[in-house]
Amino acid sequence: MKTQIPHRKSYVGLLTVALLAIGATAQSADRPALKEVYKNYFEVGMAINRSAATGTAGGANRNQEQVNSDVALVKEQFNHIVPENDMKWQLIHPREGADGYNFGPADAFVNFGLSNKMSIAGHTLVWHSQTPNWVFQGTNPPPATANASAPTPATANEAGTNTPAGGRRGRGFGGGFTGPRASREELLQRMRDHIHTVVGRYKGKIKSWDVVNEAIADGGGTNILRSSLWSEIIGPDFIAKAFQYAHEADPNAILRYNDYGLENPLKRQKLITLIKSLQAQKVPVHVIGSQAHVNVSTTFETMDQALTEMASLGLPIHITELDVNGAAGGLRGTGADVAANISATQGGLVDNVNQRLADAYAGLFRAFLKHRDSLKVVTFWGVNDAVSWRANGKPLLFDGNNQPKPAFDAVITEAKKAAKAR
Ligand code: G3I
Repeated sequence: MKTQIPHRKSYVGLLTVALLAIGATAQSADRPALKEVYKNYFEVGMAINRSAATGTAGGANRNQEQVNSDVALVKEQFNHIVPENDMKWQLIHPREGADGYNFGPADAFVNFGLSNKMSIAGHTLVWHSQTPNWVFQGTNPPPATANASAPTPATANEAGTNTPAGGRRGRGFGGGFTGPRASREELLQRMRDHIHTVVGRYKGKIKSWDVVNEAIADGGGTNILRSSLWSEIIGPDFIAKAFQYAHEADPNAILRYNDYGLENPLKRQKLITLIKSLQAQKVPVHVIGSQAHVNVSTTFETMDQALTEMASLGLPIHITELDVNGAAGGLRGTGADVAANISATQGGLVDNVNQRLADAYAGLFRAFLKHRDSLKVVTFWGVNDAVSWRANGKPLLFDGNNQPKPAFDAVITEAKKAAKAR
């Protein structure tokens, strides 16, 4: 019987597919991995969204093929993960009571980390933003001035949530909730129940927790803490209580205080005052989490100075949410305000953005390497530009097709230089 010879076009097609497959494999196999080149210095992590954690297309405007590619890149490059959103109170505990939890997405995230042998951080237990109104509700009339000039909640957020809408008390305060409030004791009880339930569920699996997030007031001025429903109802010791409850729930967990804008000397001074006060009270705060949502003008010197001063507290440091905004509108600051994100990413990208980004990342990683004794984890806030909360600022090492940008090479080069110098 005569063998059927496939049409020449089919050969070409098959060959092309085979070459593409080899090319794709060879590219990722040849490419160095961040987790490998930095393994002697610190873990390299990233914030994972629900699509990547569950391996299914959905909320982040990624089709299935893109999600598969995102997941492959996460596994290839990183050895540490944090959930971008799914452990925020609004998402994990939307309704009151023991049956008011939604653990599905958070469980998927933790299982992803465990099955890929990554260390896992939890984000976040107590935050002024993304906390449902029921948490603060009670029978005590609010102070006459409370929330008087609060703006309308941001439309992108669920109703009934203390949304990140900005406002006179800083971002996240202005929002739906103006009604009668819980007492200090009621709110402490809710905080304790929440922390014990969430931290307890993942005990031994989640290694570090962002216990309190963004409690410090921006910039200079005399107020160390931002005004929030937490600080107004409980008082400034809500921070100490949150750490105490988290420590009770998992005595082995590494407990972080996490904030942004610590490259600003005035805000950093407030951090130092806060942490010294917590240390004096023997509060179990174990790590300084510095988010580092910076911009392309941020230099080695700026980060070096920030790390030097933070390290003087004697605690390890984690860089928790690193990205480098390449938008012209982002040059004014290093905030992390969702409500201000539109202005921070407007004006188009700066000229020569890929080179500026590579230079900034090189300087930052030089500073991280210099402080390797204090620095234990560096976490990027997202896997690539397409899924970044600052997508318009193209702030990450990989583009929306998961191709490495010059900034990736710059970061790898810094590790290689450090290895040679050893
Ligand atoms: O999931 C819903 C989706 O169902 C809905 O269709 C869509 C409508 O816009 O909204 C989706 O939720 C959004 C969520 O991100 C997931 O994409 C929320 O509106 C949006 O507010 C939320 O933004 C997150 C923001 O925190 C507020 O929680 C960002 O993804 C996240 O990157 C950002 O992360 C924060 C850190 O937690 C703390 N530090 C600052 C950092 C940047 O702001």
